[in-house]
Amino acid sequence: LNTLDVSSLLGKCSVHQISYKRKLPLLASNKENVFITDQNVFSLVKGLIPQERTVILEAGERNKTLNGIKKIYSKFLQLGVDRSWTAIGLGGGVVSDLTGFTASTYMRGIDFILVPTTLLSQTDASIGGKNGVNFDRHKNIIGTFAQPKSILLDFNFLHTLSQEEILCGAAEIIKHALIASPALFCKIEKMWHRLLSLDKKIVKRVVFESIQIKSSIVKKDAKEKNERRKLNFGHTLGHALEMTEGLSHGRAVGTGMAFATKMSEKKGMLTKKESSRIIDFLQKINLNHPVSSPWHSIFRTVRKDKKKEREDLHFVFLKSIGKTEVQKISFNQLKEYIYDLCKS
Ligand SMILES: NC(=O)c1ccc[n+]([C@@H]2O[C@H](COP(=O)([O-])OP(=O)(O)OC[C@H]3O[C@@H](n4cnc5c(N)ncnc54)[C@H](O)[C@@H]3O)[C@@H](O)[C@H]2O)c1
Repeated sequence: LNTLDVSSLLGKCSVHQISYKRKLPLLASNKENVFITDQNVFSLVKGLIPQERTVILEAGERNKTLNGIKKIYSKFLQLGVDRSWTAIGLGGGVVSDLTGFTASTYMRGIDFILVPTTLLSQTDASIGGKNGVNFDRHKNIIGTFAQPKSILLDFNFLHTLSQEEILCGAAEIIKHALIASPALFCKIEKMWHRLLSLDKKIVKRVVFESIQIKSSIVKKDAKEKNERRKLNFGHTLGHALEMTEGLSHGRAVGTGMAFATKMSEKKGMLTKKESSRIIDFLQKINLNHPVSSPWHSIFRTVRKDKKKEREDLHFVFLKSIGKTEVQKISFNQLKEYIYDLCKS
């Protein structure tokens, strides 16, 4: 199996496994394709795509802003990009978010294709049609829903990633397993060494299963009115810890998942046995980080979380491995939980 259908209400889209060394020159030969990438990824594909038709951005989350978008719009205008063109985003989640946002707003929308190059973007960020940029320290607060025409995967890209980046991708895969698939969780528990050392067979199996989980959730609720909220498992605290502890996204989400697991146990929704199984595993693979910031600064950051609705927020609890329940909780309740976490 080399293709997956990930269409949703947002549009038709499929994922194809490709060889980037063969596919990129083909895409480059079409004069109405414009590439968007970052410096690091550009150095990996030099010679395969034309520099004059490529927007090369600085790498990193701090460039996922309206300023980054402005640079892309300017280059598009300079090249004379119009609605007959296709934008091709080549990079990690930052590039896929920037590409989706620019392509869906420039001239009220042009086609785009994503070529994700990190484990996190292959398994998560490129899938589902959400495109966001950060603004004024609020993460993903400005964005669009728009589906790429296709997503092209080559696992060979993963070999130049650091262990930290691989772990970040693994965190999102574990999240998909915890919210929807006990079988995938068992597989990762048994084979995490092989996943992190990029064993070809395991990476393909796990990434494809993970994409299928995300896509089936997005098919039911493309615009995050209910079902899709479960994809935020571990992210409420995770986003805050990225800011307060300066943790990488994956480690922050891992710690956020451990926190949500403990909260689920405390509320009597999850058994102690399953809760310990999850937390021990996150600990073992170094995804559950000790929290050192004071509880009130974490709480203040969570308060800014964009998912808040007046005095409540939607929080994703686990009922068992593979089953979630999204509940509205008050900020006061959350404050107590964060206080407990920091004191324990
Ligand atoms: N839109 C969504 O649904 C969604 C979902 C999850 C995450 N995200 C977003 O994704 C972003 C995180 O994605 P990410 O972890 O891919 O970050 P990233 O795009 O910043 O990439 C991480 C680093 O790896 C480098 N890199 C990329 N590919 C490489 C390769 N093959 N070899 C070596 N280095 C490479 C990049 O230059 C960067 O320095 C966040 O902004 C997050 O908000 C979006």
